[in-house]
Amino acid sequence: MDTQFSRRAVVSAVGASAFLAPLPGAAPAAALTETGTAARTAAPAGAPGRRAPGTPAAPWETCLAVARAILVLDGDDRPLVPEYTRILLEGGLPRVGGRGKRVLVVGAGPAGLVAADLLRRAGHDVTVIEANGNRVGGRVKTFRTGGHEGAAQPFADRRQYAEAGAMRIPDSHPLVTGLMDDLGLRRRKFHLTDVDPSGRPANRTWIQANGVRVRRAEYARRPRVLNRTFGVPDKYLDTTAADIYRAALAPARALVEGREGRDLVEGWATVLQRYGHWSMFRFLTEEAGLDTRTVDLVGTVQNVTSRLHLSFLHSFLSASLISPDTTFYELPDGTATLADALYARVEDLVRLDRRAVRVEHDPRRGVTVHTVSEGRDGRPVVRESFTGDEAIITVPFSGLRHVVFAPALSYGKRRAVTELHYDAATKVLLEFSRRWWEFSEADWKRELDAVRPGLYEQYRRGAAPSDGSLLGSHPSVRPGHITEGQRVHYAAHRSALRDQPEAAQVIGGGSATDNANRFMFEPSHPVEGSEGGVLLASYSWADDALKWDSLDDEERYPKALGGVQDVYGQRVEVFYTGAGRTQSWMRDPYAYGEASVLLPGQHTELFPDVPTPEGPLHFAGCHTSIKPAWIEGALESALRTALEVHTRAPRR
Ligand code: FAD
Ligand code: ARG
Repeated sequence: MDTQFSRRAVVSAVGASAFLAPLPGAAPAAALTETGTAARTAAPAGAPGRRAPGTPAAPWETCLAVARAILVLDGDDRPLVPEYTRILLEGGLPRVGGRGKRVLVVGAGPAGLVAADLLRRAGHDVTVIEANGNRVGGRVKTFRTGGHEGAAQPFADRRQYAEAGAMRIPDSHPLVTGLMDDLGLRRRKFHLTDVDPSGRPANRTWIQANGVRVRRAEYARRPRVLNRTFGVPDKYLDTTAADIYRAALAPARALVEGREGRDLVEGWATVLQRYGHWSMFRFLTEEAGLDTRTVDLVGTVQNVTSRLHLSFLHSFLSASLISPDTTFYELPDGTATLADALYARVEDLVRLDRRAVRVEHDPRRGVTVHTVSEGRDGRPVVRESFTGDEAIITVPFSGLRHVVFAPALSYGKRRAVTELHYDAATKVLLEFSRRWWEFSEADWKRELDAVRPGLYEQYRRGAAPSDGSLLGSHPSVRPGHITEGQRVHYAAHRSALRDQPEAAQVIGGGSATDNANRFMFEPSHPVEGSEGGVLLASYSWADDALKWDSLDDEERYPKALGGVQDVYGQRVEVFYTGAGRTQSWMRDPYAYGEASVLLPGQHTELFPDVPTPEGPLHFAGCHTSIKPAWIEGALESALRTALEVHTRAPRR
């Protein structure tokens, strides 16, 4: 195994290259934070970090252990990813000598599918138990014709598809990108920032807040156009929210940036000891010294508001990953093609429609998993039990709360199952018969005047009827999808803004707004043969997401369309097909939340007990890594648990 820390290994491990390179264009920390200058002097390696008054610091050893989990290192600080990569993409696990073990894998998401495949290829006898009756993949789910939703067609154009869950894969995640390549899945760029037709970043999408709408490029040139509407102090008027945020995080970044080996482990341990019990709000106000108006600006534009009360560490890691500095990929025909390809390798092992509800385990007698079926479509609910020598449980801990373990799990594990915080995330997807976001003004004129002569001009003057009569009125919209209920809600919810901004003319990227939609994403690529497209009209987290749960679909889609119109103008209504799809992960019966986005303190209080095996039980899933809400974390866990099962001596 490669025992040297390479720059590459660390980048892959953290999945966050920004920790290693100075940030281009970042405003000097000292100018923006009260503590910026002091923070540049990192804590001496090996020393427990400075502690804020009143903060219950975790023991240094615990911080070191969690730091190793962040960096994906073993107990001796050796990187695990090289070995994981070799097993996953090259040799597999060595074949067992005699008879393999009988292994139960609970859950057919990425973690379960990969663990099952590795163990079977090594000679074990594997059964995968999956609660869903009609699909595998878990939080990798694509709305597509004939796909996850059975044979149903989710959009008016049967070729259209869109992501309910995972949509973007960072190039700093070596296991998942390597796996895609290994499976022959052709990945292509996912544009976090909108591009022009030649593929160059355009930054023409909008930021819309406090009644002001400004293109991203313009905002970068003149931040005060927006910043003043938040009432930020003069010193922040001319700095973008992204730069303020980056500079605010500098004190924590300084503890890890430019470090390697043991020094880096201790840097992360210091971050955990200093800030592990902090929320992002506390960090931004107390450590970075930001006033609440500036926190609001940063929160609104950088998608931090809804998670301000959650752990500092989570948002700190996310900030460096979900950034224009990261290259992202996506899969043509949807991320579910990854689940399809993994499923194809193990299909014969998977038992769909079997939800684990009770797990009996004994180090000598092995494991019995009791299941029930969904009982959909009037079929009776049936029970079935499975036995094995060992089991890998990939069920999110939020769902494990409802699974009975006999005997009970350890105190630490039970506490983690009970308390681990799961975030909410909701996507609202709207289909349009034309990709109007790519239009120039000339395109708009041609298409609107095809609805009726003079309509282009009417919209431009804010004089088009706002009673909903133009909803789906373009000749390209197929009839039959806009329900009467949607029309009524649309007329009731119509956007208050009547001015018409100029054509967006973007490919990919997305806009940010302070309305309920919060973040919108345009598709990075057209669907072959289709002139339409599905807009991710709203992607929101935490409390922002929960607010969509109170609306039913008839109201949710017109409401989301209104939110899109605030940003892009009323005229987009003519292309709305009436076909929307939504995914509230908090309401999903088997995900029970988006992912384990922890509360302050939980990384050191609870996380150490999350991945540890208990007798014949092993725990996998992205929540057992420090990459929750990333497929990479799920794959790391699959490798770890497959190795645990494979290398442990068989029971006698
Ligand atoms: P899951 O995918 O949740 O799989 C668990 C499986 O267990 C499911 O199939 C479930 O049905 C099954 N199960 C649950 N309970 C039981 C039970 N009691 N008995 C039997 N089976 C059960 N990742 C990225 O890399 N890029 C992204 O852009 C990205 N975006 C995301 C956006 C959203 C909104 C969400 C929700 C997730 C996103 N992710 C993304 C994260 C990614 O989808 C997950 O990390 C990954 O799916 C986790 O895999 P897993 O196997 O750990 O869990
Ligand atoms: N991986 C997901 C994405 O790409 C979510 C990441 C963080 N999620 C969160 N709720 N903080 O969008």
